[in-house]
Order: sequence, then C-alpha cells, then structure tokens
Amino acid sequence: MTKPIPGFSKLSKEQKIDRIASQYTKNPDRTREVLRNYWNTDKKLQKLHDEFIENTITNLYLPLGIAPGFLINSKPYAIPMAIEESSVVAAASKAAKFWFDKGGFKAEVLGTEKVGQVHFIYKGDVDKLKKFIETITPKFRSDTETLTQNMSKRGGGISTIQLRDQTEKLHNYYQLHCTFETMDAMGANFINSCLEQLAATLKREALEYVEFSDIEKEIEVVMSILSNYVPNCLVRAEVSCPVNELRIPSEISPKDFARKMVRAIEIAKIEPYRAVTHNKGIMNGIDAVILATGNDFRAVEAGIHAYASKNGSYGSLTHAEIENDIFRFWIEIPLALGTVGGLTKLHPLVKLNLEILGKPTAMELMQIVAVAGLAQNFAAVSSLVTTGIQKGHMKMHLLNILNQLEANDEEKKTLTKHFKARVVTHNGVLNALETLRNG
Ligand code: MEV
Repeated sequence: MTKPIPGFSKLSKEQKIDRIASQYTKNPDRTREVLRNYWNTDKKLQKLHDEFIENTITNLYLPLGIAPGFLINSKPYAIPMAIEESSVVAAASKAAKFWFDKGGFKAEVLGTEKVGQVHFIYKGDVDKLKKFIETITPKFRSDTETLTQNMSKRGGGISTIQLRDQTEKLHNYYQLHCTFETMDAMGANFINSCLEQLAATLKREALEYVEFSDIEKEIEVVMSILSNYVPNCLVRAEVSCPVNELRIPSEISPKDFARKMVRAIEIAKIEPYRAVTHNKGIMNGIDAVILATGNDFRAVEAGIHAYASKNGSYGSLTHAEIENDIFRFWIEIPLALGTVGGLTKLHPLVKLNLEILGKPTAMELMQIVAVAGLAQNFAAVSSLVTTGIQKGHMKMHLLNILNQLEANDEEKKTLTKHFKARVVTHNGVLNALETLRNG
C-alpha cells in the first residue's frame, strides 16, 4: 500500500512530481513527460497558474469554444464556453441562430441580493435577545465600516441584518441573517469578512450586556459564512414567437413541435428523474460560461439546484407555454456572479473572454449566462422531442472516437464524410476505419 507523503506541500514542484510519479504510477518517466507536456512554455504564465492553488503539478486543459450569433436584448454576443462535451457549443450556436431572426433573447435581472449568516447558539430568553440585537445594531454597522467603505462607494454594502429564531428546528439555534449588495463583485470575501466581524461584535457585546444573565452572555458562534443560496439574486431570460414560426428541420409541424416542447417541460416539472437530466442540460450551457468567465461553478451549481427544489420537490428550471398562439420559453435562476475581483483580472483567458463579451457588468453577465442555459435547454429538448439526442450527439462525438482509434487526418476527413448520412456508433466507426485501412 502507498504511504502518505509527509510535508508534501513543502517540496519543490519537481520533487512533488518525482514523488507522485514514483509512488503512484507504473511508469514514472512517462508520468513526468505527460505532466510536463501540459506546462506552459511561458514560465511567468505557468508560475501564475502554479500559484492559483497549492501543490500544482501541471494544468488540466479544457477546450474553449465560441458560440456566436446570440442576440440578447437586441445586442449581439459571441459567447465563450469552456467545456469538454462535444455537442454543447454546437447546440448553443444552433439555438442562437434559430432565435436570432425571431427577436433573439430577452433577459432581465430581477434582483441582486446576496446572503450570509452568522449561526449561533443562545441559551436564554428570546425577547431579551431580540432587544439585545436591536441595541447593538449600530455597533454592527460601525464595527464593519472599515470593511464596507469601498463597497459603499460603489453603491453596495450590508443591506440588512436580521435576527432569525430557528429554535423550533434546532435547540437554541439562532442566526444573524444578513443581506448584501456586492455590485460587480461576486463578493464572497467581502461577505465573509463582514460576517466574521459581525460575529465578533455579537460575542463581545453579549459579554457586556447588563440585561443578560451569565449563561445568556455566553453566546456560542458556530460559524459565519455566506450562503450560496441566493433566491433574490435572480435573472430571467426568455424567447417567444408565434407558434407557426417554430419551424425546425424535421418532419414535425410547428404546432406539434410547440405542444411537445411544452409537454416535455411539464414532465420535467413533475418528475425528478427527468428534471435532473433536463437541468443538467441547462447546466451544460451555464457552467461553460461560468468557467470561461472565471466564476465559481460549484457555488452556481449548488445555488441553482437548491432553487430547483424550492417548492419542495426538484423540478425544471425552464418553463414553456402556448398562449394566443404564441410560444414562450423561459428560465429563471439565481446567479451570484462577478466581473471584477477573483480570477477576472488574474487569468489572461478569463480577462480576454470578458472582453469578447464586451466587458459586461455582473448584471449583464447574469443575463448572458441565463441565456446560455436557456439556449442549451431549447437545443436539447427540441432534439429530444423530434429526432432524439443521439443523432446530433454521436455526430459531434465522431471525432472523439476517431481520435481514440488513432485515425490520421486523411482518415478523419474520409470518415466524417462517410458518416454524414449514417448513424454513428463506436463499432460502426471501428468497422469503417478497418475497411478503409484494408483498402
Ligand atoms: C446531455 O449532456 C444533456 C441532455 O441529456 C439534456 C437533456 O436531456 O435535456 C441532452
């Protein structure tokens, strides 16, 4: 059995690689070579990446693609997407093209409120606690002033500080439930710093509060942390058109297509097995833009899936209806994003992607991301209710199969042509390649 490596983080990068290569891999020389192949030749750039995290040994690349031709609130966009799944960028581009001449996408930010909480235990009289919090609220404000100064200048800061009694759910458990505006920053550091100060003020003031008994003075702060659930940091994106304009390259009539789309959404609303996959398809678009713009996809994922369960069971993030012969298709999701701070200035590609997007504000980026999710869902569900997903998916996957089989450029060209009008399967490609190679 391999043993843990003591003091690993103190080793140099070369030493770390040597240790991992010899202790965990069968062919250490090959391991070193693979890792080095992914280093950037620009040493300064590599150092930047090395310093993003601890114990960096190399970089893991993802393709960065562009989905062009998006019209959002009458403004054209080319959307950068970082993703490994073959069909995602093509699907986004297809949906963008479909909606472009129907007025494009309309998007609107419904709220920008972020949330953070100080979780604490108080063993005493609740009315006294309420009075105490009221009394010390000016102290909460003055103690956080140095932290909030800059954000206030930009129009943000701590919006509300509210005591929440959660004792019915957990014995003696209370929260300071706080809301924030963080403008163009995602705001995680700002919020967490504010919360830690609020927690310190809470404890300090409780010890000095004369109305409290000894036990009431001993407030136990369990933790202070932002919440990635931001149901009031919300964006909505929509497309609509007369039903008879829903003409897609398939046998199906626009009317039947519209009805099937609505039916598919209804199913995803009430059936969690379908909803998870339906929303996964939406996240294909969302995560790809989140990654390309240096935002935190884990935070976004967690918040969005919680929102998808807000009514008590997990359901679709998108909605569709036909009313007065108009087909409407929309998405509503919480998104806490930043276009300043974090990786946005540090990572040259993130910086470039934001430039390609026209240097959006956080609110604009929320709209772009929501549109990418909606476009992806439109593309996926429209395939599902017509041709099925595999036709397009396997077509896009063809190159991956050919690469796996080590086909050369000429073979790839010939077989791409060959499979244009044929169903792509792994075996089918293998056989076709063998036939080609055997003349
Ligand atoms: C595949 O990555 C995503 C889909 O499964 C989404 C869906 O089923 O709606 C095609």
